[in-house]
Amino acid sequence: MDNFMGYQGKTCVVTGAASGMGQATARLLVELGAKVYAMDISPIKVEGIEKSIHVDLSSKDSIDEAFAQVPSSVDCYFGVAGVMGAAFPFLKTLKINLLSNKYIAERILPQRMGEGGAIAFVTSSVAAGWQKPDSLKYYRSVVDADGWDEAIAEVQALGMDKLPDPTAYLYSKMAMNYLICKLQSLYGPKHVRVNGICPGGTRSAFGSESAELFPIDMDSPLVFLGYSGRIAEPEEMAHPLIYLNSKYASYISGAVIFVDYGLTAEVEAGLRPGMLGDSFDDMIHPKQG
Ligand SMILES: NC(=O)c1ccc[n+]([C@@H]2O[C@H](COP(=O)([O-])OP(=O)(O)OC[C@H]3O[C@@H](n4cnc5c(N)ncnc54)[C@H](O)[C@@H]3O)[C@@H](O)[C@H]2O)c1
Repeated sequence: MDNFMGYQGKTCVVTGAASGMGQATARLLVELGAKVYAMDISPIKVEGIEKSIHVDLSSKDSIDEAFAQVPSSVDCYFGVAGVMGAAFPFLKTLKINLLSNKYIAERILPQRMGEGGAIAFVTSSVAAGWQKPDSLKYYRSVVDADGWDEAIAEVQALGMDKLPDPTAYLYSKMAMNYLICKLQSLYGPKHVRVNGICPGGTRSAFGSESAELFPIDMDSPLVFLGYSGRIAEPEEMAHPLIYLNSKYASYISGAVIFVDYGLTAEVEAGLRPGMLGDSFDDMIHPKQG
């Protein structure tokens, strides 16, 4: 195998590797010659990986136990796992989607990653508007908090955990985009790049859960999948993720890329109304009329 993207022999950690985008990412990395340490709460069926590791990302202790099984030097981290959290309390969804990645990136990986390393997260296209002041004010202090318990205390101090449970998804994904920016100062001096993708609708187990939670009338004039006219396949998210952590993205860091076939681009340019409003504030205090 040639070393086309520079992954040959690289130690890569992938979360969410049992299904959807994470599974596609792990499989493609194996094909590219990487040593893949695949993590998930569910059994992982990807041939050729170095190790399959059980983890519950809602538990700090479980994350510590999982990383005890990973080599002391890591080249690339792919933080893919996430839940819509329809059936979970607010804080559980937040732990899986945000706090786990914050803990891994701030407390575990700094000792294990060096020059040339790369981190890529998966957030969501519903997080458009995350950088607006009316969004940031709800989670900046949570992401800035120094530690897992401190971040939870801050969520509670802001009263965010009293919001309807499904709100946790949008909240956590917006906060993830801010985390990606915040991590630049931690990793930039070490020459470790940190980026993320914000996927649009993608075929996966997660997609079925969100269809149940948000049944969509596909004939409605408000529904627009982007000019592709279809949802994405998991590989179509794995490809940009793998690119971002590859040698071909060597000058890209701090990028939060919407992978939704132009949908968010039009909304942000004011060419199309957003489905959820302009900011997190709009989401929890919808405008009348
Ligand atoms: N599918 C979509 O339409 C869509 C759109 C935007 C963003 N996303 C995001 O993409 C990422 C990947 O999702 P997917 O679409 O591949 O869905 P998926 O449900 O197929 O995969 C998610 C994986 O995360 C794992 N997971 C869930 N809870 C966990 C926990 N507590 N500990 C460890 N692993 C856990 C699941 O077992 C599963 O294997 C998620 O972060 C999701 O929020 C998905």
